[in-house]
Amino acid sequence: ALPIYQDKEKAKMIDFKELIANEIYNESLGLTPAEVRSLIEIPADEKMGDYAFPCFRLAKTLRKAPQMIAKDIAGGASGNPAFSKVENVNAYVNFFIDRAYLAGQVITEVNNQGECYGRSDEGRGRKVIVEYSSPNIAKPFHIGHIRSTVIGNAIYKLYDAVGFDVTRINHLGDYGTQFGKMIVAYRKWGSEDELKEDPIKTLLGYYTRFHQEAKKDPSLEDEARQTFVRLEAGEPEEVGLWKKFRELSLAEFNRVYDMLGITFDSYAGESFYSDKMPRFIQELKDKGLLIESQGAQIVDLEEYGMSPAMITKSDGSSLYVTRDIAAAVYRKEHYDFYKCIYVVASQQNLHFRQWKKVLELMGYEWQEDCVHVPFGLVSLADGDDIKMMSTREGTVVFLEDVLNTAVEKTAEIMREKKTDGVDIDAVSKDVGIGAVIFQELSNNRIKDYVFSWDKVLNFDGETGPYVQYTHARASSVLRNASEEDIAAIRDNSCDWSCLTSDSANTLIKLIYRVPEVILEAADKYEPSILTRHLVDVAQAFNKFYHDEHILVEDRDEKLAKLSLVLASKTVIANCLGLLGIKAPERM
Ligand code: ARG
Repeated sequence: ALPIYQDKEKAKMIDFKELIANEIYNESLGLTPAEVRSLIEIPADEKMGDYAFPCFRLAKTLRKAPQMIAKDIAGGASGNPAFSKVENVNAYVNFFIDRAYLAGQVITEVNNQGECYGRSDEGRGRKVIVEYSSPNIAKPFHIGHIRSTVIGNAIYKLYDAVGFDVTRINHLGDYGTQFGKMIVAYRKWGSEDELKEDPIKTLLGYYTRFHQEAKKDPSLEDEARQTFVRLEAGEPEEVGLWKKFRELSLAEFNRVYDMLGITFDSYAGESFYSDKMPRFIQELKDKGLLIESQGAQIVDLEEYGMSPAMITKSDGSSLYVTRDIAAAVYRKEHYDFYKCIYVVASQQNLHFRQWKKVLELMGYEWQEDCVHVPFGLVSLADGDDIKMMSTREGTVVFLEDVLNTAVEKTAEIMREKKTDGVDIDAVSKDVGIGAVIFQELSNNRIKDYVFSWDKVLNFDGETGPYVQYTHARASSVLRNASEEDIAAIRDNSCDWSCLTSDSANTLIKLIYRVPEVILEAADKYEPSILTRHLVDVAQAFNKFYHDEHILVEDRDEKLAKLSLVLASKTVIANCLGLLGIKAPERM
């Protein structure tokens, strides 16, 4: 008889690799249990089992042909109810997991853990910083910013899910000589009302006007420089204006963050480090790293095949890399991070290489724990699409407009579909914004990609709406089941032998792998690993749904199948959540 899972306590899901390693492990093999485990493979062809163990490595120690070893191991390993079959094919031992056993283990675990399924505590007790989004204030928050924002948020959620204590930092670009120019322009041509009405566009206008006027009257440049010096020196009037610009910008950014459901623990941006710089400049000097070049102070990196890192300009003011040095040391001292992750475009690769090298030369060994996570460019498809997204200015595409367009377009699609009982206003937000996020996280982050509405909003493609729709479908099946049935499946006492079909088994195996996929995605800073796995889960669910009747007469069969539907729904919602996407019940 097959083991039918009845234990209602939270039993930890079985680790099949561990189980197999235990079966195989024997001191005479000359391998440690961990080595045995690491040799276990997942065969590409399902006919060769769910797991396979190659025996080549053992031939030397055991002085036997690998085929013979495989035969011996296979002979000794059968008898465990977890395996329906253990056989040797040439030098491999192939393990077939019993389908009913797997179903019981996996579904019970998912339904017991609920929202926590997929989470682990690998990172317990360790601190990770994820720095992402980091737009420049007084500048448009445009489509280009979506990448760092959304990828960074997913990386934060992944690290949180695997048990790290994560701090989210928005390293705002809120410092630099451009603020001198904006202050001058505001005083000359600006007004409070205009600024309040549309802060970023207005500030951008000041900035552009400043450059136009400065062409005619170069003395403006001097005035701006002096104004910035006063700002750096903490003169109340300049600081007051700068603060106003910063607050108004942040309020606009926050509108977008709210739409995306994103928050930060700290907005300590570049300005935060302005008064912390002298210490590092002195330190660089003391360590003999600074040299003068045309009045500027630089660290020569020629030896390492890089252009020099400029630390201070000839007028003494600090630069981007200097602020990043100060930020890294501050974070190390303040948070004592295990890892500090910078989610910043690959255009800044050189900057981050220079910066790490300078930290290394300064003797900070922990610079190795600072990781630049780069990503490629997003560009817009030609044609009509671009018009839909462009703002009146033509060139800059504001992220907020993209998100609003996504919501509107989704609402249109939903209205056409005439979905009854769905709150289109609310759901189109979840779906439209989810679609944009999903698209962002679908490809390897390093790849450049072209934004296109057709791809983003396709309900049948490998898209956010498709996965969300699958979730809604599972929810609807569960809504159609009786309360009694739902209560019964919560009990986990199903006859799992009803879930041995190919389509059920494929789905269950994908669900089983979710925790491991989450770990891998976190480890590689690559949310797309999870996104793609989630698409596989959704496709497998839909295949199961089409191949099989769920609400069948036979009660045992119905309950087992409903359990799998519930587990699928939970897993899809959890994975969407980790990507920063909502999982509507109906759509
Ligand atoms: N504000 C910068 C920009 O928009 C990105 C900041 C990246 N983070 C950093 N620590 N340098 O390009």
